[in-house]
Amino acid sequence: MTDHPAAPAAGKAPAGGPAEGALLSVRGVDVGYRTGRRTRVTAVRDVSFDLYPGQSMALVGESGCGKTTLGLGLLRLLPRTGVVSSGEILFRRKDGRLVDVRTLAREDLRRFRWNEAAMVFQGAMNAFNPVLRIEDHFLDTFRAHEGGRRRPRKEILEQSADLLTTVRLDPARVLGSFPHELSGGMRQRALIALALALKPQLLILDEPTTALDILTQRSIVERLAELRDELRFAMVFITHDLGLAAELADRVGTMYAGRMIETGTTRDIFYRARHPYTSALINSVPPVAGDLTVPQSLPGGPPSLTALPPGCSFAPRCAHAVDACSHTRPTLDVLRTRTEGLSHAAACLRTHELLEGATRD
Ligand SMILES: Nc1ncnc2c1ncn2[C@@H]1O[C@H](COP(=O)(O)OP(=O)(O)O)[C@@H](O)[C@H]1O
Ligand SMILES: [Mg+2]
Repeated sequence: MTDHPAAPAAGKAPAGGPAEGALLSVRGVDVGYRTGRRTRVTAVRDVSFDLYPGQSMALVGESGCGKTTLGLGLLRLLPRTGVVSSGEILFRRKDGRLVDVRTLAREDLRRFRWNEAAMVFQGAMNAFNPVLRIEDHFLDTFRAHEGGRRRPRKEILEQSADLLTTVRLDPARVLGSFPHELSGGMRQRALIALALALKPQLLILDEPTTALDILTQRSIVERLAELRDELRFAMVFITHDLGLAAELADRVGTMYAGRMIETGTTRDIFYRARHPYTSALINSVPPVAGDLTVPQSLPGGPPSLTALPPGCSFAPRCAHAVDACSHTRPTLDVLRTRTEGLSHAAACLRTHELLEGATRD
């Protein structure tokens, strides 16, 4: 884990201040990676959204669209070559103060992580230290992040056992084990328990169940949904599995080539998607059961970040593209206003036309 001193905010003005009552207000965030001495690619561009306490947002999109980069950037967990180069990440701390995560000093950032926001990555094997038992991970986490009195080992282990029980693990089996002695599903559950240890208000999960079999995925996602309802943490759930997104999220943000190109409630996205890319993603989900029709797939792949088309990044693959799409970049326009960050917005020049077509048909 590395962190960076906050770079001076430069470039465009963020879209307004923090939203009233929001836990997290992301404003005009760009994230870049240094790829050579003088070269940098921008992997996330001008992303803005609000997340309210207890809300869960799924970030969906094909591989390479910037989902992980955004998640890492929000908690300043980017690798050394990555940097949040523009925008604001406004977070309402437990004490009620609003901070820009970009400006947190090192010590404050350490307190912020785990205590207020935690991240669970795909493949828990890499997140655990292979030479430490699970109990040592809990001891280290509590001791490193709890201020004040150093609590006795026994007390921390009892609390750790309770946490493991909440994710349906047997503490007697798990606490004394090394990471490699657990199955992938057990490790992923243990990691979720660890992330919840200090009761963060925000949990970012990056493809947390991708490597697991369907049944294990389902049971972990169900448990996560229950825990969210009990503990009221907000969640950013990164996935390329729209089925899981539908199960867990109140709202969905579609990312393409580093931009958020559609956002709305889960119902908006699944029943009234207004961006052809979101629709294509939904249509490319293979049926879980039933007839063996070939799913409508999405030909090609996202464009290279170093050679983005001047207009809409999706235009070269879009079945609805017209001339204007290749030179005019659409803005993320609100189609239906709702409170608490739940408005439906899409970045497509043809949204209204396609919408009229759809209602006429
Ligand atoms: N460390 C890195 N250095 C340079 N480019 C990177 C790095 N990590 C990711 N990228 C690039 O950033 C883009 C977004 O990647 P990522 O955030 O991993 O997307 P996703 O999570 O949606 O699959 C990709 O084009 C990827 O190649
Ligand atoms: Mg990723």
